[in-house]
Amino acid sequence: MRTKIQRVNPKKPELTKIREAAKLIRSGGVVAFPTETVYGLGADALNARAVKKIFVAKGRPSDNPLIVHISDEDDLAKLAVDIPNVMKKISRRFWPGPLTVVLKKSKIVPKITTGGLDTVAIRMPENFIATLLIREAHTPIAAPSANYFGRPSPTTAEHVLEDMDGRIGLILDGGSTKIGIESTVIDLTAKTPILLRPGGVSVEQLQKELGKIKIHPVLRGKKAKIVYRSPGMKYKHYSPDAQVILVEGSESKVSQKIIRLTRELKKQQKRVGIVCITKARYNADAIKIVGPSYQKFAASLFGVFREFDSKKIDVILVQAVPKKGIGLGIMNRLEKAAYKKIKAR
Ligand code: TXA
Ligand code: MG
Repeated sequence: MRTKIQRVNPKKPELTKIREAAKLIRSGGVVAFPTETVYGLGADALNARAVKKIFVAKGRPSDNPLIVHISDEDDLAKLAVDIPNVMKKISRRFWPGPLTVVLKKSKIVPKITTGGLDTVAIRMPENFIATLLIREAHTPIAAPSANYFGRPSPTTAEHVLEDMDGRIGLILDGGSTKIGIESTVIDLTAKTPILLRPGGVSVEQLQKELGKIKIHPVLRGKKAKIVYRSPGMKYKHYSPDAQVILVEGSESKVSQKIIRLTRELKKQQKRVGIVCITKARYNADAIKIVGPSYQKFAASLFGVFREFDSKKIDVILVQAVPKKGIGLGIMNRLEKAAYKKIKAR
């Protein structure tokens, strides 16, 4: 299969291009498209054969469910049942945007879309290309992140091509995604909403709007004997080929530790890459400053992983950030990718 890349103006998407992509979706094809978080690998969420193609292209285990993307709030009632009242507040405050809700699914959603679960994850993206594509396809679009299984999520069309060349027919190129890490996922099937994945919307924002929310034990580092509510939690994710070492501690301690580690690793003939928030005097094979804001860190993170892999870096040293705001989402991705966590003293 030849993979076509279609450049689309993100501010003023050309309708003819969107309609061509929408036609492909309607006829059961797979199209990669930008959202404000990361690129998605989309197909008609209600067409089991089309959804199957996503799992094949992505190399994803079939028990890991997909997020269903909508462009109109009315679609919620078609896809989900027993929708709690709190959903009104959530959609008013956070949609369109980087928040995914898990609800009990309706009959029209095929089991393959939900990985066999009786719940469905739903999100209304904000990205203009994404919303127009869903609207023009006249169907909700199931879309996981458009990376090959286990690779960092793609934040540009080039990243998608790296993983999906020859595996899908079309990539809509709308430039870099704004947020850079995936949406926040909350489960609304329990009395108190449960955070399943931190992401573009922060826990603080959710608490402000909803009051109490529970944090899933897996996110607090618990492993043993818990029932996985979100199958995605159990898979290794977001990992570059290089080993990632996460360095925690105060700014100055961290930078001293990174300098010492770099020296040791260089003695072992390793190629070292460093990800830091502000400029420091490092001497490594690749250095990436991803700050000063944590927003910028989130937006750059997955791209840096891919860039370092292409530079054949063996070990990536990353400065940890506080688990607040978007920092919680960043640290979740880093901890999943991390080979080791070190406290700088
Ligand atoms: O930002 C995003 O959410 C991106 C863009 C494309 O929208 N999508 C994305 O999809 O990150 P994916 O498939 O890579 O991650 C979806 C996560 C997985 O961890 C999955 O297990 C979880 O959501 N999930 C999906 N359906 C679920 C359900 N019914 N119950 C619990 N977790 C679910
Ligand atoms: Mg993903």
